[in-house]
Amino acid sequence: MRRYLVIGNPIDHSLSPQLHNYWFKKNNINGLYEKEKLSEDSLQNLVANIKNKKIAGINITVPFKKKIIQHLDELSSEAAKTQSVNTVALKNNKVIGYNTDIAGFESALEFKKYNPNKKKVLILGAGGVVSSLIFALYKMKASSVIVCNRTKSKAENLKNLFNNLKIVNWGEMPEFDMVINATSVGLKSDDELELDFSKGGKGKFFYDVIYNPKETNFLKKGKELGNETENGKRMFIYQAAESFNIWHGLKPDINEETSSLLDV
Ligand code: ATR
Repeated sequence: MRRYLVIGNPIDHSLSPQLHNYWFKKNNINGLYEKEKLSEDSLQNLVANIKNKKIAGINITVPFKKKIIQHLDELSSEAAKTQSVNTVALKNNKVIGYNTDIAGFESALEFKKYNPNKKKVLILGAGGVVSSLIFALYKMKASSVIVCNRTKSKAENLKNLFNNLKIVNWGEMPEFDMVINATSVGLKSDDELELDFSKGGKGKFFYDVIYNPKETNFLKKGKELGNETENGKRMFIYQAAESFNIWHGLKPDINEETSSLLDV
């Protein structure tokens, strides 16, 4: 039986095992996908276990998406450009890091029929997933991407990866067509961002990377103000499907049943 893992800290909330184990069954794959809370000093050993085939593949979540890189043999071009790895696989005896968050986000916007071409996009937050969002938005030809993070230096660091990025102070509200919550504020249902979106006008697109709870206060506010909204559920499913394809060479079915696995 092939063994797969999602690693992070915290990891309890991860729904990756539900999805992957469901797809194993559907595709008659003899595999087991589990979650494991790790500390940073176990990363090297984990990668060694991929090389010696004890573990067939891993997904990586907060806070290891960048920290894993130094232990890998090679990176895909997207993983290198974003300095973010969420999927690891062994190919030709090399441990390779991939980034499927980018394709996950792109497919989620396509599903929603939202095209960021020529749009101004404001991203709130500068954590692990943000370089993937920026990469995808530039790829989809957004006219500008602005990052606003409580700790400004972390937003400034992203300019090392993306020269054209604009940075604003936390609390500033520049004009935007699309605003993305990529902070962890909203994971608890009473969490609220202390930002004023009321001057933005209607007809914008409010996107939250969070999918549990389904509707964060950020999305509630966006809706109340007359905007389109979408949570991160599709992005999560599509990034998992891309990882599945890297490991097993096939695209799993995404349907109502898949989606309901994540309704917790
Ligand atoms: P990491 O920062 O370790 O990569 P993350 O979950 O990917 O973790 O990112 C958390 C994001 O939520 C960060 O952008 C964080 O802002 P800081 O860089 O200032 O820490 C943001 N965040 C968390 N709590 C917040 C709060 N109460 N208000 C505003 N932003 C917050």
